[in-house]
Amino acid sequence: MSERPFIQINDLHHNYLRDTPLEVTALRGVNMEIYKGESVGIIGRTGAGKSTVVQHFNGLIRPREPGRVIVDGQDLSDPKVDVRRIRQKVGLVFQYPEQQLFERLVGDDVAFGPKKLGMEQTERRERVKWAMEMVGLDFETFKDRFTFSLSGGEMRKAALAGVMALHPEMLILDESTSGVDPRSRSELLGRLLALHKEHGLTLVFVSPNMEDMAELVDRIYVMDDGRAVMDGSTREIFSQPAELRQHGLGVPQVTEIAHTLIARGITVEQIPVTVEEGVKETWKILNS
Ligand SMILES: Nc1ncnc2c1ncn2[C@@H]1O[C@H](COP(=O)(O)OP(=O)(O)OP(=O)(O)O)[C@@H](O)[C@H]1O
Ligand SMILES: [Mg+2]
Repeated sequence: MSERPFIQINDLHHNYLRDTPLEVTALRGVNMEIYKGESVGIIGRTGAGKSTVVQHFNGLIRPREPGRVIVDGQDLSDPKVDVRRIRQKVGLVFQYPEQQLFERLVGDDVAFGPKKLGMEQTERRERVKWAMEMVGLDFETFKDRFTFSLSGGEMRKAALAGVMALHPEMLILDESTSGVDPRSRSELLGRLLALHKEHGLTLVFVSPNMEDMAELVDRIYVMDDGRAVMDGSTREIFSQPAELRQHGLGVPQVTEIAHTLIARGITVEQIPVTVEEGVKETWKILNS
């Protein structure tokens, strides 16, 4: 881990529809730090502010005083900071992918970012091909398909391909794999994890699925009512089921089983958070 956080957020506040009768307070002083090469999860009940906070990570929403968002050493409150450069480094796949696709053809949509960067055609085509194959959209089959004719899951994949085509250093997925069938989903997540492990791609996952979090991230922030209310390693967070419940959340089912066994007086050496760990602990209990 490098000494300087890649993303640093201090005392971030955000209100939608500010100074109107419909004003909504979405963030009430959020602090977060994410380091290069980490895989971090953000969980929280609906409306907690997860999507609002991640939209600050790439300058889609600019911070408001006194809040600070510093990305790779650049303070996003400074109007001179070029957010296009930031967006190339920090890729965000929206919760609603249809908000992210705007070209008529899938291939053009995926090529949009590289084109904007002024990349020449041969390299652009390579990037697009790589990104589409990486998300599991066959290049020849999908490049000339109409974006609007894609299924929900395919749209999510296309939106992700558009972001990956920029070779970001950090990728944020805001519930971006829901609606993708389980098999292509696990293939996709497997490829992202491989990029994380082999090339140091920093990952941020926003997901309501605790099982996913346990498999994918090392560290978790829990948000509630516009604040980051808990943070710790995945295991630390999931060893506090009562606190999570107060924030409207649960733990992975395998962890729940372990907590129930402990409450019944059975010794569980290490609380499992993944199925694999659960199997290991079950063997230990059966053989004791
Ligand atoms: N464009 C908007 N206009 C007005 N209010 C908004 C807008 N987007 C979000 N909000 C409000 O801001 C608060 C935080 O919303 P946000 O989308 O960040 O929550 P979330 O944690 O991502 O929720 P979910 O799990 O449902 O995606 C909510 O009260 C929401 O209603
Ligand atoms: Mg959201």
